[in-house]
Amino acid sequence: MATVLIKGGRIVTAVDDYQADILIENGRIHTIGRDLAAGPGVEVHDAAGLIAVPGGVDVHTHLDWDFGVARTVDTFATGTMAAAFGGTTTVVDFCNQNRGESPLKGLEDWHKRAASAAVDVGAHMIMLDVTDQSLADMKTLMAREGVTSFKLFMAYPGVLMIDDAGLFKAMRIAGSNGGMICVHAENGLVIQVLVEEAVKRGHTAPKYHMLTRPASMEGEATHRAIALSELAEAPLYVVHLSAAEALHAVTEARDRGVPVHAETCPHYLFLTGEDYERPEFEGAKYVMTPPLRDHSHQAALWRGLATSDLQVVSTDHCPFCFNEQPYGIKYSKQQGKDDFSKIPNGAPGIETRLPLVFDGAVRARGMSLNRFVGLTSTTPAKLFGLFPRKGTIAVGSDADIVLFDANESWTIRAAEQHSRVDYTLFEGRQVTGRVKKVFLRGRLIVDGPEWKGREGMGEFVRRGECGKI
Ligand code: URP
Ligand code: ZN
Ligand code: ZN
Repeated sequence: MATVLIKGGRIVTAVDDYQADILIENGRIHTIGRDLAAGPGVEVHDAAGLIAVPGGVDVHTHLDWDFGVARTVDTFATGTMAAAFGGTTTVVDFCNQNRGESPLKGLEDWHKRAASAAVDVGAHMIMLDVTDQSLADMKTLMAREGVTSFKLFMAYPGVLMIDDAGLFKAMRIAGSNGGMICVHAENGLVIQVLVEEAVKRGHTAPKYHMLTRPASMEGEATHRAIALSELAEAPLYVVHLSAAEALHAVTEARDRGVPVHAETCPHYLFLTGEDYERPEFEGAKYVMTPPLRDHSHQAALWRGLATSDLQVVSTDHCPFCFNEQPYGIKYSKQQGKDDFSKIPNGAPGIETRLPLVFDGAVRARGMSLNRFVGLTSTTPAKLFGLFPRKGTIAVGSDADIVLFDANESWTIRAAEQHSRVDYTLFEGRQVTGRVKKVFLRGRLIVDGPEWKGREGMGEFVRRGECGKI
């Protein structure tokens, strides 16, 4: 493996900000210092004028995910290539237990699909059955397989939802074994009533997705999950938080010293429910769960990022094409053309996270570069047992490094993105801040518009204890 020297960049981590060179050997950071000499055969990259940040860590993706009626359109190869172009070098993807089967079997299947990944990958396990056996399997996943976090759904009754007893039992097992439960917090049973009523009344357009999933039901479920986790004495991570009510529950608990953590996603920070009104069924592109909300929620989320009540921005990349072709109806939003409740829930975003967060947090709101790195890399790495191998630029860490131009303005266009999905939520949006070069364990995988990586070069990362910042 080549020895690599990145010269003259401004190194920014979650705590530091200084000018230095980075020498990489065997995929790890060997030396950081001023005016390091390039010996013979060393591959040198000029980072003058650029910021060197740790590779992004996206802890919420659904790649090649089949949940019966629909399947996400990115393979691990295409989804992780898109991630890399967006400056993300590690994804933690959701693998799932099938009902009636061991989660260990779910992990085995996921490993086969994930073998084509081009950046490093870890797995969370979605638990669908909480039985004595699957609780025992959770311990095996944590101790033996490096899978130390679990997602449980409080929504989607009959499909993914777990009852409170199951959630509580899983929390106890995770909490006492260094693991963490991630919750999808919405009151699924009440939402089901609202959805059925809407469809019966002929309210079938995409906007009814938002109208049947009220913010109060996200707040209620978040509050309940926190209460259960307190009783279980287990850390909790609230995924894709979108509502002020939910954030309020998180903030109140954190103020009492409860170990509750939460992420939000770029779409909740930049978009509102007005997008559901788009003509020609285009509102379906924005059907993800929880739904987009109004400006008051958006303001609350930005405030939560500023106060650290929200600690992570991840993507919830769950891509379905808008059009039926070329991949077929199973991969398409068109399934719900006549009934919003049949639109596959999920939206893409894996490639645009870093530029959007940089533009919105650092440029528009004056947050520090350190905070930008914390939100997109260091804190998710710490919370999910990847730090210090991932999430920082330090001697001994994996040389996952992004060279970022803080001044370049560009326009987001689906046609220029690398996912297989046929749209972006941010079409035509101008952002400032662009990923220029990406190194994965010292190998240059993105060089401007050029792809230098290859499928299968990503490694599975066994994760350690979760829930610690
Ligand atoms: O709409 C979404 N978020 N789809 C992915 C599944 C989930 O709930 O994260
Ligand atoms: Zn979810
Ligand atoms: Zn998700």
